[in-house]
Amino acid sequence: MLTLKTSDLSPMQLQNYLQYAIAPRPICFASTIDSEGNINLSPFSFFNMFSTNPPMCIFSPARRVRDNTTKHSLQNVLEVKECVINIVDYAMVQQTSLASTEYAKGVNEFEKAGFTMLESHLVKPPRVAEAPVQLECVVKEVIPLGDQHGAGNLVLAEIKLIHIKEEILDSEGKIDQAKIDLVARLGGDWYCRVTPESLFKVAKPLTTLGIGVDALPVSVRNSSVLTGNDLGMLGNIEHLPTNEEIDAMRWNSNVKDILDATIGDETNRERELHELAHQLLTIGNVVDALKVVLL
Ligand SMILES: Cc1cc2nc3c(=O)[nH]c(=O)nc-3n(C[C@H](O)[C@H](O)[C@H](O)COP(=O)(O)O)c2cc1C
Repeated sequence: MLTLKTSDLSPMQLQNYLQYAIAPRPICFASTIDSEGNINLSPFSFFNMFSTNPPMCIFSPARRVRDNTTKHSLQNVLEVKECVINIVDYAMVQQTSLASTEYAKGVNEFEKAGFTMLESHLVKPPRVAEAPVQLECVVKEVIPLGDQHGAGNLVLAEIKLIHIKEEILDSEGKIDQAKIDLVARLGGDWYCRVTPESLFKVAKPLTTLGIGVDALPVSVRNSSVLTGNDLGMLGNIEHLPTNEEIDAMRWNSNVKDILDATIGDETNRERELHELAHQLLTIGNVVDALKVVLL
């Protein structure tokens, strides 16, 4: 394992290692305005939501690694404490990247990148009409993290209004994760796109108290067949099945076949049962998978 002391690395090296590893990052396409009314539009992937109540986002226009200068977006939010955070979908990604060009102060990146300005309801900076979600925000605080090359500046933005395009909603009026077609930033020039094929669900452990991987027998924990994801799913079950429930599993035709074919061959029996459990977990049948590994 390569172990690096951050104090031995240059800002450029730090940026490289960290941006490849801390990824994918959502993109805040921030529209801001200065006190003279000049509009700016810039993407920031040092961005996330940090609170639901109050609804708060943070993005970070960093000091340039190259020459330690600050960005227009930062100067703008210090002058006019408002912004619109526009969410970037796949259809916008090339123009969004173009908007990150270091144009001179006063140049409106809406025009440079070919986006449409849409008047906001509460704040002065305009929204990006093409964005599937537009968040009108009031800037509560700006926290500088340093004064050296690459130092971030946290812009704490409280969301006041949420605009959502209707075409990304499902029948219940909620955002359909498969329809919003999000993109995210990774290291270097890499991006990723959230396609329906790349989406999967993981059951939330919040409502239940899972038994934990440590409650599983050693032979299951050390299985050469079951993966970490398999153990995570098994450990998320609330109760171990009763002996009767485990025994009843012997009559399952797949289990019965394995038991009949491996009489006196404990090693292969365990491996085949674990393979069956792995298949059951792949189709989401965690309850039966747990009974199979406990046989
Ligand atoms: C997708 C993407 C994400 C970016 N994320 C950041 C970021 O989080 N912080 C930052 O300082 N610069 C980031 N940049 C570079 C800025 O967008 C660029 O320096 C910015 O447009 C400067 O504009 P301004 O001086 O007009 O504010 C990013 C660029 C792209 C294309």
